Amino acid sequence: MKFFIDTADVAEIKDLAATGLVDGVTTNPSLIAKSGRPILEVIKEICDIVEGPVSAEVTATDYETMLKEGLFLSKLADNIAVKVPLTVDGLKTCKALSDDGIPVNVTLCFSAGQALLAAKAGAAFISPFVGRLDDIGTPGMELIAEIAEIYANYDFDTEILVASVRGPQHVIEAAKIGADVATVPPGVLRSLYNHPLTDKGLDAFLKDWAKTGQSIL
Ligand code: E4P
Repeated sequence: MKFFIDTADVAEIKDLAATGLVDGVTTNPSLIAKSGRPILEVIKEICDIVEGPVSAEVTATDYETMLKEGLFLSKLADNIAVKVPLTVDGLKTCKALSDDGIPVNVTLCFSAGQALLAAKAGAAFISPFVGRLDDIGTPGMELIAEIAEIYANYDFDTEILVASVRGPQHVIEAAKIGADVATVPPGVLRSLYNHPLTDKGLDAFLKDWAKTGQSIL
């Protein structure tokens, strides 16, 4: 399973990229707004840090302007994935950009039917938002399982990118289903590798080791 980081915070991306666990980055207009920085500057910086796909989202809602924005964003770096919302114009844009060989991440997916359309439009990634579904009392992970089944039936190349991840359990459940990617907020990635019993165990090992007076090097 690949891990993308869902943030536009360059310092966080640098820090986590150093672990070697970051396969890509996703951003959206809200995350760019939160960074308080100009979008083009931030996206270019992120593309320099991470080798894998960096999703940069269009902000127009009509096909012509979305396409122009998508083409413009795709030229910022070799590893840009253009992100478009799951609307009719977004899917038209997805088809046009994908036909041109530009990877597209179709975002704001909340149903299996939407995911099927995105795959038919040639999306490189489909982003179902599990957390926002959970928030309204609909189990988000059931959508991931449904999409996985449908994509397998037709051998679609579109990768399932689990989005709106709220905690480590979402990542584990997505991995059990076999989702291709989870895009996780920095805190969730950290919570995956932190465990109090690991800290406690290491502390005990180090105390016992100190008593031996030995050193390895
Ligand atoms: C995905 O690409 C989105 O940026 C993100 O996962 C949305 O998450 P949220 O529901 O926490 O805003």
